[in-house]
Amino acid sequence: MRRNKITVVGAGNVGATAAHWCVAKELGDVVLIDVVEGIPQGKALDLMQSNPLDGIDSWVKGTNSYEDTADSDVCIITAGIARKPGMSRDDLLNTNFKIVSTCAESFARYSPNAIIIVVSNPLDIMTYAAWKASGFPSNRVFGQAGVLDAARFRTFVALELGCSFEDVNALVLGGHGDTMVSVLSHANVGCIPITKLISPERLAEIVKRTAHGGAEIVDFLKTGSAYYAPSAACVLMAEAVLKDKKRIMPVAAYLNGEYGAKDLYTGVPAIIGGSGVEKVLEIDLTPDEKAGLDRSIQAVRDLMKVVGLA
Ligand code: LAC
Repeated sequence: MRRNKITVVGAGNVGATAAHWCVAKELGDVVLIDVVEGIPQGKALDLMQSNPLDGIDSWVKGTNSYEDTADSDVCIITAGIARKPGMSRDDLLNTNFKIVSTCAESFARYSPNAIIIVVSNPLDIMTYAAWKASGFPSNRVFGQAGVLDAARFRTFVALELGCSFEDVNALVLGGHGDTMVSVLSHANVGCIPITKLISPERLAEIVKRTAHGGAEIVDFLKTGSAYYAPSAACVLMAEAVLKDKKRIMPVAAYLNGEYGAKDLYTGVPAIIGGSGVEKVLEIDLTPDEKAGLDRSIQAVRDLMKVVGLA
């Protein structure tokens, strides 16, 4: 018997905070890896020193060497540069493509049976890049986006209605960018269809705010992008894998004909368990939602072409 081992690649705000959530939830031992010397080591040591205070048993190691990540069960890739105000996630494409591909390849060499969850942007393309570089089957590589985007939508709805955050259920599908699709036809609050509770005008504003949810935070922070909710979202996905929970979540999954798309990653509802993406769920969408998803899939494909992936 051994504890789970989780590697977090990138010791910036998203990576370090993801490590923090993993430790706080006692999901297993954590390896925090970064190319910068000292930062992962310092943050890991600091994080591990919180364990006696919280009654947590989880070793946290900071490193610059992939050897230390060997035999991990799950890897969360957050490496890459983040947005500055005025930049879209797509502006990060070329730089992060090289970084994410290198990280995935290096990680896969030491943990050939692991599952990789990608958080780096532009998300859908980086997930595809990580899949290619890892050589893993596609079910063992997927991306975090819909869980975060839906969390933003759910937050705005809860604030609008003055109700519990957890009673809002929603899916946000498609690429993690300006074209993402909030699926109102399936959204509900405490089982009540959302359209019965919020006017079309207010819902349209919430949908728009969700699509720009990341940029709204970049504009406030000025020097980086959001990290509390992005890291909470990817750790929830890691937890679904490590505990084989079979959770239904919107994730960037590999599509092989589902939703009319082939050979790309984008946000769709899926069952997430011990083997990663266990099933992509195809749900009915309204004609508008389907058209929105098609547009989003096209936007993902266009970006893939820029780095020679399509
Ligand atoms: C965001 C980044 C992490 O949406 O993609 O905030």
